[in-house]
Amino acid sequence: MRPIHLLLVPCTLLMLAACSKSPEAPAVAPAATPAPEASTTMPSSGPDPQSYANYDKVRVSDAVLDLDVSFERRELAGSAELALEWIDSAATELILDTRDLEIGKVERKVGENWQPAKFSLAPRDAKFGSKMSIELPDRATRVRISYHSRPEATGLQWLEPAQTLGRDHPFMFSQSQAIHARSWVPIQDTPAVRFTYSAHVTAPPGLRVLMSADNDAASTGEGGYNFRMPQAIPSYLLAIAVGDLEFRPLGTRAGVYAEPGRIEAAANEFSDTESMIKAAEELYGEYRWGRYDLLVLPPSFPFGGMENPRITFATPTVIAGDKSLTALVAHELAHSWSGNLVTNSGWKHFWLNEGFTSYVENRIVEVVYGAEFAQMEQVLSQDGLIEEIKDIPAADQRLVVDVIGRDPDETFSGVPYNKGAWLLLTLEQRFGREVFDPFLRGWFDQHAFKSVGTDDFVAYLKSELLDNNPGKFSETELDAWLNQPGIPDSAVHSKSARLAAVDAQRAEFQDGKRAASALDGKQWSTQEWLHFLGGLPDAPSIAQLEALDAAFDLTATGNAEIAFAWFKHGIASGYAPIKAPLEKHLVTIGRRKLVVALYEELAKTPEGKAEAIRIFRIAEPGYHPL
Ligand code: BES
Ligand code: ZN
Repeated sequence: MRPIHLLLVPCTLLMLAACSKSPEAPAVAPAATPAPEASTTMPSSGPDPQSYANYDKVRVSDAVLDLDVSFERRELAGSAELALEWIDSAATELILDTRDLEIGKVERKVGENWQPAKFSLAPRDAKFGSKMSIELPDRATRVRISYHSRPEATGLQWLEPAQTLGRDHPFMFSQSQAIHARSWVPIQDTPAVRFTYSAHVTAPPGLRVLMSADNDAASTGEGGYNFRMPQAIPSYLLAIAVGDLEFRPLGTRAGVYAEPGRIEAAANEFSDTESMIKAAEELYGEYRWGRYDLLVLPPSFPFGGMENPRITFATPTVIAGDKSLTALVAHELAHSWSGNLVTNSGWKHFWLNEGFTSYVENRIVEVVYGAEFAQMEQVLSQDGLIEEIKDIPAADQRLVVDVIGRDPDETFSGVPYNKGAWLLLTLEQRFGREVFDPFLRGWFDQHAFKSVGTDDFVAYLKSELLDNNPGKFSETELDAWLNQPGIPDSAVHSKSARLAAVDAQRAEFQDGKRAASALDGKQWSTQEWLHFLGGLPDAPSIAQLEALDAAFDLTATGNAEIAFAWFKHGIASGYAPIKAPLEKHLVTIGRRKLVVALYEELAKTPEGKAEAIRIFRIAEPGYHPL
């Protein structure tokens, strides 16, 4: 059989001190350094524990951004005009989330005129930023905030030309999920609030601006770039990128943007995108966002992919040359149903975004690349989860997690992804696809453009699946998935004949019965290699690593995922040949999944830790603020 990968084919110091500043107050010079951290003031003004917004009283329904991008000052400067819907007729205050924003003035619309509005900014909380309160005694329906971001904005990364492929132009991109939109737009930064937006953005000549909106590849940007996002989205899907970018169509409604030097490779790698959209539509109904484009970012992007509506942001490390890692595109595309269309109402329910998406990703992959490939991905996901939860506190092994007082970036794990997908797979297996597929499609249809919690899912599950099929899936089983740690008894482990064959060869190799050169590695897909490496002991013998390297040249692999798995073993075993390529990997790549565990592995020995610190010093200027 041919290898699968071939088939797959600030605010000032004064202001920070909770001062109340009316627009008439004298201007104060901006502080040169970030203000000191205040003691933790937990968000308590609204229903989302990770947002200060009082969206139970007043909601933002539309935003108009007018921003200038300055690479010299590393800031976005301009204004955000917000349309408000008052829910509580007694309320007189709008509370927004901000972090490190330098606020100039705030105005409210009175008739056709803009009038000053009083506002105050609370001390900065290390996790949640500064609560911004705007006094609106007459319940204005529009407010305008003039502001600029600060260079240290957690949601933006500013890159020097040298940190790009072309090395000629600077680059900037946002990463708003989970709670970083507040560092570049004063907003109700909670997934419970959805709003439409438009934007006018000016940038230095020669650079293209893209947003999570109606990008026009033909636009020259003269007079600035204009955007409109007519579908209501939560703040974490606000996105912007600026750089020297070229466009290639991938079909009638799909395309890819990348730096000129990477556009060819990107277009080849992602040529299955249109088939993926069709596969998803066949299963879950019409793609509702118009175009689906991809943007390949510089390697410092801290994630694999980000499902910004209409324009997925992706790491260049997904370009393996053989389409073997494009399940990532299936994943981000799947978010067009699970996440962007039906959105978790708070980060406690993150599994509703990522678990559903991981399940849908696998269904798309099955259609486009075949059942065998999809099964391999299931086994890798399940094995990965079993391994990973050994190191996760019991409370965080539940699908529904406690998030109060926690920074979502610090609670990130594979549980919402892999355990969430496993629950849906279990339901699929119990009820059969003829019942489960329409059930899931109905979930997306009935909750489209809404923000939902686990309770909504449980209610829908009961009324649409469990009650109609009594005795098939008990509440106790459901509770085990949602609220208990570990892998529930009802989980059926997926099987893959190809990965079982890899297991057999690995066992022989470890027992000394099969030489490295006699392994079928030349035919293995990326997934088979990841399974082979994942099943080796943490620290194989140096002789084993040498033999594998001699046969398959793993130290020189161009596949970043395989390199990661290989370097982990290499560090644990003290295998010297990886030293230089490991350093290059850590200095070039900022994707957390491919970097953090390598530092952790290095830090296990005193010499390794010294090396980790040495490399980190070199790499740090290139890493994203996250
Ligand atoms: N939405 C996530 C990325 C994310 C999650 C950013 C939480 C910030 C906070 C995205 O869809 C994702 O899951 N990306 C994965 C891709 C993978 C599972 C194929 C990644 O980046 O590794
Ligand atoms: Zn995702």
